[in-house]
Amino acid sequence: MKTRRRCLKKQRVSTPKPKLILTYPMHSEPLGKWLLPNFRVVLAPNRKTLLKTLPSADALITLVTDKVDLTLLRHAPRLKVLGNFGVGTDNVDLKLCKKRGVRVVNTPGVLTRSTAELALALTLAAARRFHEAHQTILKQNPWRWAPDFLLGQELKGRTSVLVGQGRIGSETARLFRAIGMRCIFITRRDSLASIEKKLKSAQVLSMHLPLTKDTRHWLNRKRIALLRKDCIVVNSARGGVVDERALYSALKKKSIFAAGLDVAENEPNFSRKLAKQKNVFLLPHVGSATHRARQAMAELVCRGVAEIFSGKRPFNQVV
Ligand code: DGY
Repeated sequence: MKTRRRCLKKQRVSTPKPKLILTYPMHSEPLGKWLLPNFRVVLAPNRKTLLKTLPSADALITLVTDKVDLTLLRHAPRLKVLGNFGVGTDNVDLKLCKKRGVRVVNTPGVLTRSTAELALALTLAAARRFHEAHQTILKQNPWRWAPDFLLGQELKGRTSVLVGQGRIGSETARLFRAIGMRCIFITRRDSLASIEKKLKSAQVLSMHLPLTKDTRHWLNRKRIALLRKDCIVVNSARGGVVDERALYSALKKKSIFAAGLDVAENEPNFSRKLAKQKNVFLLPHVGSATHRARQAMAELVCRGVAEIFSGKRPFNQVV
């Protein structure tokens, strides 16, 4: 009897923990709380190492810059759970994950405020010509205060049109209203005629759409042509929802006033032409880059992955 018990104990002890791959080092608190006790955690910091390590992986935590496509999934026959460190899942082939029985979690809610604050910052930066103003100082260009030096726009009383009324769009509208802007949303329920009408009235046009095959280049040349000469285009969502070339030509010929962009179509590359344009204020995808948001994102993604392994369905499961 004693020998049998010892034997069982040995078997239980030697059952290996599931293997979890991280493509980037994880915040130490959620790592210690959710991952280390339950998984063998391995770091695969580049695509080559990742593909080599994947065949024995049960779980994977990716960044929004990691492509989870057919190639990756073919290398991962055991994969049960994917945690995506971000709310956007356009880097993940969700349909394929579902088909292969890979459950996916993301990080909704916790980056809403930081991204909305950034959308407001981009709007102010574009309205007040921060790019030109900052360049003046950086390049040590001679300048002096003058009544007509670097004049921009005040936002109070202006009409903002927000494309998308999800969490981030709604929070951005709250901030816009707080500085006196009028807010109108464009949603899936709008007819083409109503979209056109709203675009024609926009003095700020702020993008808050996820990137899907239906939303790619939502803001295309035709729609940009409807915008007013004083319009400011803001994109804190995904570069792909705006046709960057069409936006560039509008900014160059000044058929719109300015743009504030946190995202690009081909990240990490920003179009050099766009970057040189004086009426554009660019940031390198930092919408959720606050200490609080990133800590909360880490907690959410780790907890979601661990919960699925313990038989629960976390609220942030996407498929
Ligand atoms: C997201 O969560 O999708 C953001 O773009 C990351 O900053």
